[in-house]
Amino acid sequence: MIGTGYVGLVSGACFADFGHVVTCVDKDASKIERLEQGIMPIYEPGLDQLVAKNVKEERLFFTTDPADAIKNADAVFIAVGTPSRRGDGHADLSYVYGAAEEIAQLMDGYTVVVTKSTVPVGTGDEVEEIIRKTRPDAEFAVVSNPEFLREGAAIKDFKVPDRVVVGTEEERAKEVMSELYRPLYLNETPILFTARRTSELIKYAANAFLAVKITFINEIADLCEKVGANVQEVSRGIGLDNRIGKKFLNAGPGYGGSCFPKDTLALTKTANDHGAPIRIVDTVVEVNAARKKAMATKIIDAMGGDVSGKTIGMLGLAFKPNTDDMRDAPSLDIIPALQAAGAKVRAYDPESMKEASHMLEDVVFCDGPYHAIEGADAMVIVTEWDQFRALDLDRAKTMLNENIVVDLRNIYAPADMAKRGFKYVSVGRE
Ligand code: UGA
Repeated sequence: MIGTGYVGLVSGACFADFGHVVTCVDKDASKIERLEQGIMPIYEPGLDQLVAKNVKEERLFFTTDPADAIKNADAVFIAVGTPSRRGDGHADLSYVYGAAEEIAQLMDGYTVVVTKSTVPVGTGDEVEEIIRKTRPDAEFAVVSNPEFLREGAAIKDFKVPDRVVVGTEEERAKEVMSELYRPLYLNETPILFTARRTSELIKYAANAFLAVKITFINEIADLCEKVGANVQEVSRGIGLDNRIGKKFLNAGPGYGGSCFPKDTLALTKTANDHGAPIRIVDTVVEVNAARKKAMATKIIDAMGGDVSGKTIGMLGLAFKPNTDDMRDAPSLDIIPALQAAGAKVRAYDPESMKEASHMLEDVVFCDGPYHAIEGADAMVIVTEWDQFRALDLDRAKTMLNENIVVDLRNIYAPADMAKRGFKYVSVGRE
């Protein structure tokens, strides 16, 4: 497994737990050292135990030296980063290509090279080309095997997936991939074999579709606010239609994270480059970016239109619960906009404050939710961590200067909050 980022580490640990022998390779020596000591570079529920167990049982190894790992491998996974390239939004493939070259130099015997990183259509062809050029004698196949792991639920998503997509038309490679995923046959997980380019596109299409779904319900939420309807009931009302499905219909402050923003952008670039623009995704990218910014205005309006000199207590900073990931989190748009309007921000997040402290300025990071709202003029819920769902609201009231609650995740019931004497503003509900 080349790369011990989110995907590489979770996939490596899960494959090891299936009984395979996995070596995770990373250039970052201190990361490898920490992993060997059982210290995880990311927060993902259950990952530390899974890694510890498989290290102890000698199925999972960490190294900075790719030589042995690659030489002896039946399959080598490329799970390195594909960040958005500065300036044009295309996925930056330099790490993928670098890994391909390294693998080519070191592989021995028939090797299946698998791209697990999210890569634009045609990357597999390029990887194949690089390997062939570097090692004209090599016996290998390049396969696309996209991941569909949600942060915070990644282990379950890996072990009990809705489907596994494998992009290859080579029989020998199909056999190796089938063997790797054999433990899933017991759960009757569909394993979909497709052509490589199709598989690469499935990944982008899946993420873009989910981003469209979220953005759709977010815009319906805005309309609900105007016409006095309730977006949660609209979601339920449409989601019970099996053709629509009820998941990913929670209105909120806009999607963030390491995947949807990057992948939607990369898909629109690819589509435009090929003269087949996907206008719905162009629009979603634009609407979502504007939405994250608009959330600050929503908070300011809830506080009477002027926040200068006021204090806001933020609950949640990460882009979603059960992760410390701050990438493209709505809080990164909301907090600077509130500060620019003159507000002071206090914040608490169970996992992401360390990460957030590098990305935000002048925020008072607090010890817990009540500490964050102490002396604040409003409490704003940005991430729906479980521990925020059943706050002691009477205690919250004694902490707040003004009983204003802005709930950007709709975790409380409007009628109940009104009864308790709060001025309560949520998303798409009255
Ligand atoms: C997403 C996909 O769900 C995974 O299938 C995919 O493998 C992954 O990207 C990836 O490409 O690696 P992730 O970014 O971890 O996973 O998080 P999601 O649970 O999908 O949430 C993304 C964003 O959408 C979050 O900001 C979340 O708050 C928001 N969201 C999600 C909503 O606003 N409403 C919803 O109903 C669902």
